[in-house]
Amino acid sequence: MLNKRTLMLAVFVFVCGWILGSNKQPVPIITSSAGGASYDGGYRTTAGDKVAAVTKRLSTGIIHIINPGDSIQSVVEMSQPGDTIQVLPGTYSETVYIDKDDIHLMGVIDQGRRATLDGRGILNDAILYSGNNIVIENFHIKDYKGNGIMGQAGNNFEIRNNLIVDTGIYGIFPQLGINGLVEHNVVSGIADAAIYIGMSDNVHVAFNEVFDSVAGIEIENSRHAIVENNNAHNNTGGILAFVTPGLPIKSTEDVIIRNNFVSNNNTPNFGAPGSMVAGIPSGTGVLIMAADDVIIEGNIISNNKTSGIIISDHSYASNVTIDPHSEPNSDRTMILDNVMLNNGYDTIPEVIALALAELHTGPVDIVHAGPSEGSCINNRHRYQAVGIGNYENCDFTNTDNIRSYLLANGAEPRVISADDRGEIAYLGVCSGCHSFTGRLIGPPVPVIQAMYANNPEGLAKYINAPVKKRSNYPPMPAMSYLDFETQLAVAKYMLALRE
Ligand code: HEC
Repeated sequence: MLNKRTLMLAVFVFVCGWILGSNKQPVPIITSSAGGASYDGGYRTTAGDKVAAVTKRLSTGIIHIINPGDSIQSVVEMSQPGDTIQVLPGTYSETVYIDKDDIHLMGVIDQGRRATLDGRGILNDAILYSGNNIVIENFHIKDYKGNGIMGQAGNNFEIRNNLIVDTGIYGIFPQLGINGLVEHNVVSGIADAAIYIGMSDNVHVAFNEVFDSVAGIEIENSRHAIVENNNAHNNTGGILAFVTPGLPIKSTEDVIIRNNFVSNNNTPNFGAPGSMVAGIPSGTGVLIMAADDVIIEGNIISNNKTSGIIISDHSYASNVTIDPHSEPNSDRTMILDNVMLNNGYDTIPEVIALALAELHTGPVDIVHAGPSEGSCINNRHRYQAVGIGNYENCDFTNTDNIRSYLLANGAEPRVISADDRGEIAYLGVCSGCHSFTGRLIGPPVPVIQAMYANNPEGLAKYINAPVKKRSNYPPMPAMSYLDFETQLAVAKYMLALRE
């Protein structure tokens, strides 16, 4: 007979079961990590299987051999397109500026000894190039104040196998170039980005090691880039794809970040105060900001204390002035399988607040802040994730169909007419540090325009030999390697620039 007690117990058990049942985790949607469909969207690549040489050599040219004590620059000046310059091991203390096409500048490594470019903490830049079809390889570059290797509007470049240590603001910085390969470089101790791809298209960044820098690898205002097989460790932020507002190219899109190691990026931020990277929280693994169509696949992302992956829009960034012409959200972020371990264990208040809003406590592997359209993730149950409620499951599992975004036939060499000189120099050189809408490394353009209205000569004179003016900015490097006509043209361009 059913007594009252048994009945009560039965009801109790039934109610508990019902409550427990409703609290049960939904069964995760598990996507196979092996096999499955490949990504079929975004940019149409033409390179097929090759990630090999991207420069098109015009001719074989002659080989110049440089010995310690010789000047590399004087040989660059007398060389012809097609020539190779081999620099023998030893120490060279100079700035090399290549303003012609089709030069192969090569350090010779002999029994481990390299050609070393030593800025002695005084010189600004080690190697600058503005030509097309430039190859720079095998150097040891150290102790400069500005850039290790900077490209200024040259197309088809290869920068490989260089060891770059403490070269100031940027380690390797191709700016405004189409079709370029940056591979097998080791870069450390950089106050902004160790590898900075700026306003460029069709680039491949592979097999590099970047560490002890503020940003490891940065894809900024650039399109069609693959970042793969790199080791980004012990930076403030490991791998970043974002839009800097106020630059003439307004978007970052079609970026694949795959098969990289991104670990221990917990170095305190030592970026120039007020600069954009100074806003990156220490402990950032991968950061996507205002970039679209970014795929994150097959990375091992571990021990980044703020979060393994942060996706945000411009409104969350400190030190950013919104550009009305840049779409500020990160749309179509696609997160495929990644191995994520021990991230977000000591995060920032902003992430804690976003997590709490979703009743999430504890570490955070992935956080998405701000609106986003068309984003997706596979196997979301694996991660401690916040802000990805509107992510769908991806309808592909890999990017195997896309070996590279390099151009099979190279890019047309950029030809700079006298009329374009100011614009190209501005885009290729100044916009690395000056933006229209806000502070980058240097003051915003409108501030400069107010100072130098109707005085391009005065501005040209300043950039030829800058003096330190503002205590809260670093000094500006001299632009004396540009000839006077270019200095004046860029001064006029900067003064006439409108948003
Ligand atoms: C590596 C970063 C960097 C680059 C590249 C750069 N600048 Fe600057 N610029 C700065 C900084 C930093 C300051 C502030 C310096 C100070 O106040 O002492 C500055 C200041 C200036 C000023 C203000 C001068 C004054 O009288 O106050 C002008 C003008 C200027 N830059 C023009 C240019 C032009 C033109 C270019 C390109 C040819 C350029 N800059 C490239 C970092 C840079």
